[in-house]
Amino acid sequence: MWSSGQLSMRWAALFCILATLCTLFTPAVTVKENDFKKCNQSGFCRRNRDFADNAIGSSSWESPYGILPESASFQDGQFQATILKAINDKGDTVRLPVTISFLQSGTARVTVDEEKRQKQDIELRHDSKARKERYNEAEKWVIVGGLDLDKDAKVAYQDKSQWTVKYGPASTHEAVIKFSPLSIDFKRDGTTQIKFNEKGLLNMEHWRPVPSADPEPEKKEGEENQEEAKPEEKSGEDESTWWDETFGGNTDSKPRGPESIALDISFVGYEHVYGIPSHAGPLSLKETRGGDGNYGEPYRLYNLDVFEYILDSPMTLYGAIPFMQAHRKDSTVGVFWLNAAETWIDITKGKESKNPLALGIGSKTSTHTHWISESGLLDVFVFLGPTPRDVIKNYGELTGYSAMPQEFAIGYHQCRWNYISDDDVKDVDRKMDKFKIPYDVIWLDIEYTDGKKYFTWDPNMFKDPVGMGDHLDEHGRKLVLIIDPHIKNEDGYPVVADLKSKDLAVKNKEGNIFDGWCWPGSSHWIDAFNPAATKWWTSLFKYDAFKGTRENTFIWNDMNEPSVFNGPETTMPKDNLHHDGWEHRDVHNLNGMTFHNATYQALLSRKSGELQRPFVLTRSFFAGSQRVGAMWTGDNQASWEHLGAAIPMILSQGISGFPFSGADVGGFFGNPDKELQTRWYQAGAFYPFFRGHAHIDARRREPYLAGEPYTAIITAALRLRYSLLPSWYTAFYQAHRDGTPIIRPMFYTHPAEEGGFAVDDQFFVGGTGLLVKPVVEQDKETADVFIPDDEVYYDYFTYNVIPTSKGKNVTLLAPLDKTPILMQGGHIFPRRDKPRRSSALMKWDDYTLVVTVGRNSKSAEGELYVDDGDSFDYEKGQYIHRKFVLDGAANTLASTDAEGRDAKSVKEGAWLQGMRQVSVDKVIIVGAPSSWAGKKEVTVESEGKTWTAALDYTGAENVRAAFAVIRRVGATIGADWKVSFA
Ligand code: NOJ
Repeated sequence: MWSSGQLSMRWAALFCILATLCTLFTPAVTVKENDFKKCNQSGFCRRNRDFADNAIGSSSWESPYGILPESASFQDGQFQATILKAINDKGDTVRLPVTISFLQSGTARVTVDEEKRQKQDIELRHDSKARKERYNEAEKWVIVGGLDLDKDAKVAYQDKSQWTVKYGPASTHEAVIKFSPLSIDFKRDGTTQIKFNEKGLLNMEHWRPVPSADPEPEKKEGEENQEEAKPEEKSGEDESTWWDETFGGNTDSKPRGPESIALDISFVGYEHVYGIPSHAGPLSLKETRGGDGNYGEPYRLYNLDVFEYILDSPMTLYGAIPFMQAHRKDSTVGVFWLNAAETWIDITKGKESKNPLALGIGSKTSTHTHWISESGLLDVFVFLGPTPRDVIKNYGELTGYSAMPQEFAIGYHQCRWNYISDDDVKDVDRKMDKFKIPYDVIWLDIEYTDGKKYFTWDPNMFKDPVGMGDHLDEHGRKLVLIIDPHIKNEDGYPVVADLKSKDLAVKNKEGNIFDGWCWPGSSHWIDAFNPAATKWWTSLFKYDAFKGTRENTFIWNDMNEPSVFNGPETTMPKDNLHHDGWEHRDVHNLNGMTFHNATYQALLSRKSGELQRPFVLTRSFFAGSQRVGAMWTGDNQASWEHLGAAIPMILSQGISGFPFSGADVGGFFGNPDKELQTRWYQAGAFYPFFRGHAHIDARRREPYLAGEPYTAIITAALRLRYSLLPSWYTAFYQAHRDGTPIIRPMFYTHPAEEGGFAVDDQFFVGGTGLLVKPVVEQDKETADVFIPDDEVYYDYFTYNVIPTSKGKNVTLLAPLDKTPILMQGGHIFPRRDKPRRSSALMKWDDYTLVVTVGRNSKSAEGELYVDDGDSFDYEKGQYIHRKFVLDGAANTLASTDAEGRDAKSVKEGAWLQGMRQVSVDKVIIVGAPSSWAGKKEVTVESEGKTWTAALDYTGAENVRAAFAVIRRVGATIGADWKVSFA
């Protein structure tokens, strides 16, 4: 006989299996919007929006927050004081310590805590085992540098009501701290750029004892006259969700009561704001308080597994980066809201009503933002630019730059849910070869496991994983395996036994191991906030532990928001407990990153002495995830709309410090028709992360199955990607060095060209000057490309000079076999033109340089970065970084070390020595001067030798530019050399 408990478990199991099957086999339907909260269903969001309505709607509103003047001090680049929050008419206040740190980089940081919680002088409800403080460890996970204080920052003015601190490069920045009501104006060169609490929406919900049920806490001796929170009198506030909150049948117990934080941040004179990914909407963010074409909901940041997400929406998705940039002609500023709890951001725009001339910015539009988080500290970084590059660089100094990927990782990845056996994998591999389609990586989704138990293989379908890995290795190819954070709760599964016995899993609010449902059914979740858990996780990836893996196996972390099928909004209850007693509510948006980090660390230590760069793809992410891998935009659909939506999403990732990003090529759900599939490959060839993927229900769609002409066109797109890999790798290096986006939107490359600020369907690739506008509409055979400057633009394939005009669109022909790509004059970019099966096989291939001669300068410049593509030796100088310059006046083309390094200063390892054999084979000069006509050869000088090389000059014809080709240049890629055309 089964006990009733067992019976209900069986029913629950059956229900879950059915639910899972439904998600697998239900035909495409759009996201069930009602499964996810709107602002008015999220208590703290609603309260803060109401607070804002009340403040903005009242002419007599004054923010109840003010700095206690005698508490203010300034030392070593830090301003410290106590904010008093007035909580009633009787003069009662709560104390909120504030620190404003001025950093050497010119960034300012404002941090506000709550004294009572800080001192743990509060009581929790329900005998909760949670921590009492506001969450103060986001910094520990996110910030990796850039916190050195600016010791030259100084108080330039002070009286009882305000202080002014001058800081930043040459003291050009100022923070004007007004005490009562509290506000801070951030100025650059005397002009206000950003204002905190201008609208008075600062709100820090202070701790208060639970009404009625709990007796008023007794005062200890000597405390009588201290300011403190009194049991709340009914204040007209909406208390309905202070103590618990129910949504979709789940109740959140809120042991600490209301504790949200909110602040209004105005960008004065800025009409465009960008960032705060991930959302499926335009790059230039929309207003969120209604009105024509605007959203009615705030942008939400709460990492969720949003099944079949909708487009053009502020709805949350899988990852969150609370970093926003504001841009106007020739000026960019930004803020980074360091908070890992659920966050909502309202955006409104309006003309300045106050004397516009006094502001020095005319009557330009300003953007007002209202940031609202459920818990944690108020912790905001302020960047004053003035360029997009500066803002992104400063953000990266704090959160780190993109990891330098292995070279294979920027090739093409072939994935589907699922390749069903090791034979299937080998078959796909052979067919890609047969059709001469380059690719680097094949992926296995969850079905490779034995019953969704990670670190195991299905014994029938994957009998010989090592043989499969060996087979792939023959052409330098790799295998990526999915490993998710939910661990199947099944007897006899050693991983779950360990997780339980070592006490490394996330706990429920009672402090018992949390049990939820995911792919395997009943599961537990590794708590990657716990250092002991990440150490244990590392041990699972050792080659002798995870049998069947080898050096060419890499990892995909999915479902790490975390996705919990039977949890509130498909995730974990907020009152779950993590390591050290932090509630899940405090750390939710960090969760995916901690797991991703743990896997990255695990791959670093699979075998002692093996020092190859890990590759780990993640679905969920936070600020800092860029340091350990790539992301993709999750479960999109095989539709033209989703193809179009991917580009702004990837551009948004790029300007938000996490540029290694892509979207499922072909669309995850559904079956793309062949035109859509072809166009998607043409676009995907320009995603930093380039992977074809498909749902388990979708028909097979490997590129060779498309048939002609589609297979040939897709193959051409893939080969184009592969020939440009040296340029992509160089762009990744730039991102790794200073955060420069890999694909770049117009506002970034042309910050003064206002017509480009909202353009988000085209981009430049790295510093190559390649301007790409993928076709994302059905039956479309033309593309309108926005031209941001007066440079000359050549067609990539024909060398035709395109008749362009700055600030206007130009229409290009774009039949199905053509991706619209223009070459902006003035650049030199590297390629490797020999078609190969994989990037590994291109390792020692010679280079081609393409030179696009600038309109007026008749000159061009470019870069190449190359290293061994897999180890960390580049950190020890084992790389080649060249700068190429075509000097129109001197009539020369030269290659020098881009960093001015003396070649002899680096002891050459095996890879650098090998590169001595690799040459610049060909140089193509598009827009070659007519003075070269009739010239048959050029002089090449390198390493103390001089020789001649043949020059083929082809004159201009109709609209086609003149071009010249130097074949067999003969110089090696790592050496200094000079070609003279005189
Ligand atoms: C959800 C992921 O987004 C998708 O890419 C994957 O195929 C499925 N999980 C199955 O693992």
